[in-house]
Amino acid sequence: MKTFTPRTFNIPELKGISKKSIDIHINLYEGYVKHANLINEKIDEMSKDPVSAEVNSYAINEMQRRFSFEFDGMKNHEYFFEQLENVGHLSSLTLIDSPFRVAIEEEWGTFDTWMKRFTALSLTRGIGWAILSYDKANSRFVHSWVDEQHIGQLSNVEVILALDMWEHSYFLDYAPAEKSKYVEAFFENLNWVKIEERFTKVKN
Ligand SMILES: [Fe+2]
Repeated sequence: MKTFTPRTFNIPELKGISKKSIDIHINLYEGYVKHANLINEKIDEMSKDPVSAEVNSYAINEMQRRFSFEFDGMKNHEYFFEQLENVGHLSSLTLIDSPFRVAIEEEWGTFDTWMKRFTALSLTRGIGWAILSYDKANSRFVHSWVDEQHIGQLSNVEVILALDMWEHSYFLDYAPAEKSKYVEAFFENLNWVKIEERFTKVKN
């Protein structure tokens, strides 16, 4: 049976997000990969013949539900960490006249207006993800808030930017009431070239 393999990320020292926080977070990411594999293994074991598939049907179906949580947890974190690789020399200003920035301005008027809207989205109460995606079929961006890892994921869109708003992302560096500071730090460290790259890929 095929298995998922955890990816490694080359994340330099960040401003406002400690190395310890990133290290712990990467361990959590590896947990999602491990459990996505374990669930598949267990479903396989329990479905090996018609009798055991029948006897274990409730358990199998519940594990299949659980798989979405683990799989999306794996994917969300891969989007998240690769945005923090190779940072430190670029900012959103680098993107002036870039296709991504121009498209954002077409959608929201100004880059700053979009940034404020996305930041407000990220401060949704609860644990989950603030995600900017591109809906190619309708040539437009869409925002979504994903509860946990999987509830509220949009179909057939490409993720352009994903911000982890689980407390484990910031609790070592910020109090829960200060999570907006973590959002600021995230944007300060964000590798905009990666965002541009994702957008260019979906547009082509
Ligand atoms: Fe996370």
